[in-house]
Amino acid sequence: MKTVHTLAQLRAALAPSQRPAFVATMGNLHQGHLELVRQARTLGDITVASIFVNRLQFAPHEDFDSYPRTLQADAQQLQEAGCDLLFAPSETELYPQPQTFKVVPDAALADILEGHFRPGFFTGVCTVVMKLFQAVFAGHSQGVALFGMKDYQQQLIIGQMVRQFALPIEIVTGQTRRAPDGLALSSRNGYLSPAERAQAPALYQALRQLATQARAADASALPALQQQAEQALAAQGWQPDYLTVRRRSDLLEPQGPLSGQALVALGAARLGRTRLIDNLEF
Ligand code: PAF
Repeated sequence: MKTVHTLAQLRAALAPSQRPAFVATMGNLHQGHLELVRQARTLGDITVASIFVNRLQFAPHEDFDSYPRTLQADAQQLQEAGCDLLFAPSETELYPQPQTFKVVPDAALADILEGHFRPGFFTGVCTVVMKLFQAVFAGHSQGVALFGMKDYQQQLIIGQMVRQFALPIEIVTGQTRRAPDGLALSSRNGYLSPAERAQAPALYQALRQLATQARAADASALPALQQQAEQALAAQGWQPDYLTVRRRSDLLEPQGPLSGQALVALGAARLGRTRLIDNLEF
């Protein structure tokens, strides 16, 4: 695997490719990322990953400064997973000037759920992803980019961005990887104390229970079911932001009988100082 740090080096390394397959990350990699890389290998003629902790998607009180930066270990794992090219730019390479032009996603999709609790988060994500897409795919008539299902709203918004800007990029969503006890793999799991780690699968369990109850219900029952789910987590020491059932297509609230609808249960909750998110399609 070759590692490059500048846009010029990246573009030179990608010039021979007909169809790059790209996995964007913020590093501190886990099996979820590596599985996306392995999947990418089957979808393009060169597999490229980026590692860049994107300041624009962190609010001032969030963990930008403490976000784990583990470039050497990440590079080793990427190489073992079969990645061909790693792009690890500095902040001054990617943002040589303050980034005053931004990609602002549709508020109906981006200001709810994660966007409600993390205002501006998806503008930061879309801006860096658009920039990374320009870096990787400019000059290529086709390409593929892979994102994890755990960030459900993110992959939906990026898919919409790609369609609305007519980018010649196929977006592929990879399944969430889980620990044997059900906890979704996440770079932020490393923040959990041993006691919190033992408690952490409760978020996924709560989503499973919510999905099971919702499957047989009418939409009018959802507010009560969602409140019960949040209260049950709170009783176990969590601070839930939301546990909710939405339509998969646009994350709006479903109407009428829920059976037969394509739905997703989504949750975000804080355990100590760690904020975890998860989801379950049903
Ligand atoms: O999912 C992530 O790790 C980040 O949001 C992404 C897509 C790499 C953009 O910084």
